[in-house]
Amino acid sequence: MLFKTLIRPVMFRASANDPEIAHHWLMGRMATLSHSQTILKIIEATNAYKSSALERDVFGVHFPNPVGLAGGFDKNGIALPALAALGFGFIEAGTVTRYAQPGNARPRIFRLSEDNALINRMGFPNDGADAIHAHLSQSPKPGIPIGWSIGKSKITPQEEAIEDYLYSLHKLYDFADFFTVNVSSPNTPGLRQLQDKEPLDRLLQAIVQESEAIAQKTGSSAKAVLVKIAPDLTESQLDDVIEVCLNRHVRGIIATNTTLARTGLRHNTSESGGLSGRPLHQRSLEVIRYLNQQLQNKIPIIGVGGIFGPDDAKRTLDAGASLIQIYTSFIYEGPGIIKRINRELARS
Ligand SMILES: Cc1cc2nc3c(=O)[nH]c(=O)nc-3n(C[C@H](O)[C@H](O)[C@H](O)COP(=O)(O)O)c2cc1C
Repeated sequence: MLFKTLIRPVMFRASANDPEIAHHWLMGRMATLSHSQTILKIIEATNAYKSSALERDVFGVHFPNPVGLAGGFDKNGIALPALAALGFGFIEAGTVTRYAQPGNARPRIFRLSEDNALINRMGFPNDGADAIHAHLSQSPKPGIPIGWSIGKSKITPQEEAIEDYLYSLHKLYDFADFFTVNVSSPNTPGLRQLQDKEPLDRLLQAIVQESEAIAQKTGSSAKAVLVKIAPDLTESQLDDVIEVCLNRHVRGIIATNTTLARTGLRHNTSESGGLSGRPLHQRSLEVIRYLNQQLQNKIPIIGVGGIFGPDDAKRTLDAGASLIQIYTSFIYEGPGIIKRINRELARS
């Protein structure tokens, strides 16, 4: 209530020309809070909803609840403990690239408030795998599973993409419960082509093998590798993704990233980038349903796209997802949405 009547109007107005201002301000505060155990306990006590009915084991990882924070919110992993204290069941941090990069020119996030949507063309701004490794080595650990999303650096030529992903995998291995191979962000030139059958096959084979090799050296079990896909793939492209994932022992599919489509918008916009939020929900559900039908429970699906409350969450789980993630609704609805969804899921 307080979020929508007070906090959101102030934050949205203060960052009307560039929504990223609000994001960086918030992340700075959350990063500071992440270092205080006492404050984290207070945040957790007032925000997190706990119930054994919400716990689940998926791709070998135990999740306290199925509601995760989607990739791209905490790109450098600076505020993971504070975000965890809000009640998320897991966080996908990143997307991280081998090299530090600034991303596209600002403004690069646009609010479409009447559509409950965002358009972004961030282009993976992040501190790079080395700096993030150094920072995580000194940081408190959040008590929930963390997946690290890895992507290709803009300066890396397409032919060297695999080495770029492997570098980040190595650097972040000790800090991840699972990895997501991001081949679906629309804002890095050429990235989505890595979803095509042959390049995807080579990339996933290399990453899964590397995860297994690292685990063998340390005598532990290999960390799960998942792939995140775009909502704009055709059924035949989805069939290719499924075939590759099953052949290469990918442990899950995250569906979906933002869309290039602009259907169903009230807001008239010519901004380029990926669209997220409510207008994405139907398409993301269609993709999840199709994947579920074809996969026959062979590997799990994480559903993401336009989930704005318990009904959307249930619909996504009913469509075949084992876990869900939110991003845009976290911006529009505030942290209370996590508890609202979890409370309803625990009841049903
Ligand atoms: C500003 C912004 C930045 C994002 N950055 C990333 C990213 O770095 N990596 C990624 O996999 N997805 C990224 N996403 C996509 C989200 O993780 C999610 O897949 C998408 O927004 C759909 O979910 P939603 O409708 O709940 O927002 C980003 C989304 C937004 C709005």
